[in-house]
Amino acid sequence: MWDFFQTVRHRHSVRRYQSDVAIEPEALHGVLEMALAGPSAGDLQAYHLVVVRDGDLRGRLAEHSGEGFLAEAPVNIVVCADPEHSAARFGERGRALFALQDATIAATYIQLAAVAEGLGSAWAGGFEEDALRELLQLEDHLRPVAVLALGYPAEIPEPTPRRKLNELVTYR
Ligand SMILES: Cc1cc2nc3c(=O)[nH]c(=O)nc-3n(C[C@H](O)[C@H](O)[C@H](O)COP(=O)(O)O)c2cc1C
Repeated sequence: MWDFFQTVRHRHSVRRYQSDVAIEPEALHGVLEMALAGPSAGDLQAYHLVVVRDGDLRGRLAEHSGEGFLAEAPVNIVVCADPEHSAARFGERGRALFALQDATIAATYIQLAAVAEGLGSAWAGGFEEDALRELLQLEDHLRPVAVLALGYPAEIPEPTPRRKLNELVTYR
């Protein structure tokens, strides 16, 4: 089992999947539970996860997002923010910011849990929200923020370069 630092370092966007290898329900459940372990504003968990296993729907998600890897991966997880849930406690800041942050953190935890489970993942963000809402028959109040591909990798991606720490950090 990798420690935390190894897990983080081994997370790379996987864009090729073994499409014929299913994810065991226990493994999927474990990954989803880790999403719930993340922090959220007021502990409200203002997000909703739509797990898409159906091949036709994954194909449509791939078309809508322009990312073929969504069709190739056996599971897609559509991470939605629930702005009104956060707004009920935090008003406009909950609606415009906290719910998106809650959902994004959940997506990140899923990506890290996937590594620990021996799975790969990749984030697709280039979709039109209303089209996705209609395709998945999402309730109007949900805002899709990420579609995550999840599956066993068919490639070992090269690490991508990062900007330097001193470009991105200021000490006061
Ligand atoms: C908000 C967001 C949107 C992204 N959208 C896409 C996308 O539409 N297609 C894609 O292939 N990767 C997408 N990515 C993945 C990034 O391209 C990737 O994380 C980045 O290049 C760093 O590579 P790594 O994940 O392998 O470390 C997205 C990532 C984030 C956080």
